[in-house]
Amino acid sequence: MKPFTFSETLKMNFNSQNASSTRKPKTFNNPERFIEGWYWAMPSQNLRVGKVKAITLLGRKLVIYRGKDKRVTTFDAYCPHMGAHLAEGKVEGNELRCFFHQWKFDDEGFCVDIPCLEEPLPIKLKAWPTAEKYGMIWIWTGEIPLQPLPFIPELEQKECDTAIVSHFVTNCHPNVVIINAIDTQHFHTVHKVPLELIFEKQELNQNAITFSNTTRGHESSFLIKLIRPFYKNALTYSVCYWYGSTSIVTIGPDFLHLHIMFSLRLLEGGKTEGRTLLVTKKRKGIFGWLCNRVVLWLGNILGQEFLKGDAKIFESIQFDLRTPIKVDQPIMQFINHLERQTSLCWGTWLQARSPHEDERRDNRDKWRDVLND
Ligand code: FES
Ligand SMILES: [Fe+2]
Repeated sequence: MKPFTFSETLKMNFNSQNASSTRKPKTFNNPERFIEGWYWAMPSQNLRVGKVKAITLLGRKLVIYRGKDKRVTTFDAYCPHMGAHLAEGKVEGNELRCFFHQWKFDDEGFCVDIPCLEEPLPIKLKAWPTAEKYGMIWIWTGEIPLQPLPFIPELEQKECDTAIVSHFVTNCHPNVVIINAIDTQHFHTVHKVPLELIFEKQELNQNAITFSNTTRGHESSFLIKLIRPFYKNALTYSVCYWYGSTSIVTIGPDFLHLHIMFSLRLLEGGKTEGRTLLVTKKRKGIFGWLCNRVVLWLGNILGQEFLKGDAKIFESIQFDLRTPIKVDQPIMQFINHLERQTSLCWGTWLQARSPHEDERRDNRDKWRDVLND
């Protein structure tokens, strides 16, 4: 396969104002940035009613607790009085009391009691939108959730059975890990799977994109002959990406789709912490229950297989797509989609500015200084 010429590459997918093959991506594979969105905090079962815990998410220190009403609440970690970590405190009903001087905050973060004062002060903790799905607690990294929790398009309105099967750390950026599922060349070279995949992309919304295989495979291949009775149309292999950090791979015969979710988040220094979740639609009765156990078991094996072959690459890669060829097009489409989303700074969660904007601001400040002199 020949590399694209410069003009072919430009034409291919980089018509947007924000990304071009000649310009380095601002957010993709940037260890200082992530997309505003929903990120997993911890499995739901790790936070019982009345418990409070400290977590660090994307560089920000948080406190998370479950009130009497079973709802989970997340605040910034430090008490606005004198800075004690609120995870040292105590849950009282649906409220949280700081251990140090016993100030109390309700589940919206408002101060409701200061023991040595008659009236509480009008102060409020920073609260973050929190939700639960797939047996996991998720936190939205902005003021108001602008999009839903990651969902599998074909199961959007359906009840699901889920299992959280692994927890892992890799040495490279979540964006680099996650594009593995649409890197068609490596299925042959790393995983030895002789499948010919050609993807069609579809943007579901500003933060979600799917890549679905459109080919039936080589009818002459032994593997394809073996699995053909289970596939009427194209072989099912699709990947749905949310916030550039959660991918859901759907695979399997027409009557039984497996959904494997890899949900990743950025650690310090451009590393990745991830969870693998298996999701299948709820099936009724004892037979349905048994069927789902088998589906989840199969999904687990496949999920491990996905990660195993690539571990070596993730340990040492210095990602730089300098020579894209035609089969790399889905990766470039992914980068393009990512670059159009709102990106935040690791640690502060403030909106990231592009270097271009920084330059403009510096120039403006310079001119203001000159004019004021
Ligand atoms: S530091 Fe929390 S009440 Fe004083
Ligand atoms: Fe892989």
